[in-house]
Amino acid sequence: MATPHNEAKKGDFAKTVLMPGDPLRAKFVAENFLEDVKCVNTVRNCLGFTGTYKGVPVSVMASGMGMPSIGIYSYELYAFYDVENIIRIGSAGSYTDKLNVLDVVISESAYSDSTFAKYTNGVEEKTLYPSKKINDIAIAKAKELGIDAKVAKVHSADQFYTAPEMGGWQAVKERCQCDCVEMESFALFNNANMLGKNATCMLTISDSFVTSEEIPAEDRQKSFTEMMKLALETAIA
Ligand code: ADE
Repeated sequence: MATPHNEAKKGDFAKTVLMPGDPLRAKFVAENFLEDVKCVNTVRNCLGFTGTYKGVPVSVMASGMGMPSIGIYSYELYAFYDVENIIRIGSAGSYTDKLNVLDVVISESAYSDSTFAKYTNGVEEKTLYPSKKINDIAIAKAKELGIDAKVAKVHSADQFYTAPEMGGWQAVKERCQCDCVEMESFALFNNANMLGKNATCMLTISDSFVTSEEIPAEDRQKSFTEMMKLALETAIA
């Protein structure tokens, strides 16, 4: 069985899939953190891998950028590949001096102005939530591993670039009342809710609107080790 976007066969994915945005990060996680790795999807270079972590099957597959993209890939993993849990591992920009570059965030909620949920399954809410079960495990694992993960409100934006007349990041923060911004979690949480599955999101702060600090692009892939460890330990808990 294959879908228009995924050539994997039924059974190729583990019950839990880690989902970075970037296909090369998916490859990096597979090559550096998993054993007995098999590449299960190469369609559009949206790479997917299945291997084991501490003997437990775990998959990692890229989501691409933005809600339409993660909407497609997460829907297909849940609906056609019997995936039960998706843990997004991404990056975010900080709207607050309480979240600094390289901090690890566990999503408390995802706010969005996107119509993704409204036109996918009639959901009008602007704030959606991750699965409590996985989030509680992630918070407990962070404590166990000595990772100072911050539980924060995530803004899932449709725009990376906005015109200056829109009022800058301060106006966006005022509207959404969130702590950091990324572009995918809202759609992922919606799909999980709609299909009776589980999802959460972990983020590493890659840039700060407050201090203008950012991790250089070439360092991003490797600077997410703490979050990956947390995601993997959560995946096998
Ligand atoms: N992901 C990382 N940084 C981001 C930003 N500034 N805006 C949206 N998504 C991001």
